Amino acid sequence: MAPSPSSRLHAARIATLEEMADALEIRRRVFIDEQHVPEDEEIDQYDGDPTVVERAVHVLVHLAGQDSEGDAEGEPIATGRLLLDDPPEQRAHIGRVAVLAEHRRTGAGRVVMQWLQAEAQRRGRPGITLSAQLHAMPFYERLGYTARGDIFLDANIEHRWMDLDFA
Ligand SMILES: CC(C)(COP(=O)(O)OP(=O)(O)OC[C@H]1O[C@@H](n2cnc3c(N)ncnc32)[C@H](O)[C@@H]1OP(=O)(O)O)[C@@H](O)C(=O)NCCC(=O)NCCS
Repeated sequence: MAPSPSSRLHAARIATLEEMADALEIRRRVFIDEQHVPEDEEIDQYDGDPTVVERAVHVLVHLAGQDSEGDAEGEPIATGRLLLDDPPEQRAHIGRVAVLAEHRRTGAGRVVMQWLQAEAQRRGRPGITLSAQLHAMPFYERLGYTARGDIFLDANIEHRWMDLDFA
């Protein structure tokens, strides 16, 4: 039987500066190079040393690699982050979801979202809120999110708020 997409992908919390640099390189290629978001808007206070920054959890998705033990990590291809600034009874915020262009539509974005959603649930959050670029709304709808409010501009890109409630 062919392996499922997620069995080729490995998601883990970013715990080191080196892993953070891998995530920021993915975000640079996607948001700054491809979507022309200004660098000073793309990187913010949540993107520092993961051993120091509080209230943010970042995830990095690698292609599964192979070594003699069969479990090495391959190329990092996708990332995203969960922000926990709001009070614990409120939905957590997912943002900066990015998959390298050559690896899209292979399930990596879903793996990022499911990992971050599970982390929010583990922390007792009731759901997720996010601002979706309009082109990405069908991706979030497939994960159960519903749109709220009007279209607004962020970094000159059209967005809408979308929510998911657990339970
Ligand atoms: C949006 C993005 C994260 C989606 O990641 P991805 O890895 O391509 O998505 P997946 O392969 O996991 O897709 C999951 C499902 O959503 C669907 N989907 C993904 N992107 C879609 C799109 N643009 N339009 C319609 N459906 C889409 C897939 O077909 C798949 O459907 P399925 O449930 O029938 O299998 C990716 O396109 C990306 O990084 N874009 C650039 C950065 C960006 O815009 N980020 C979002 C900012 S709000």
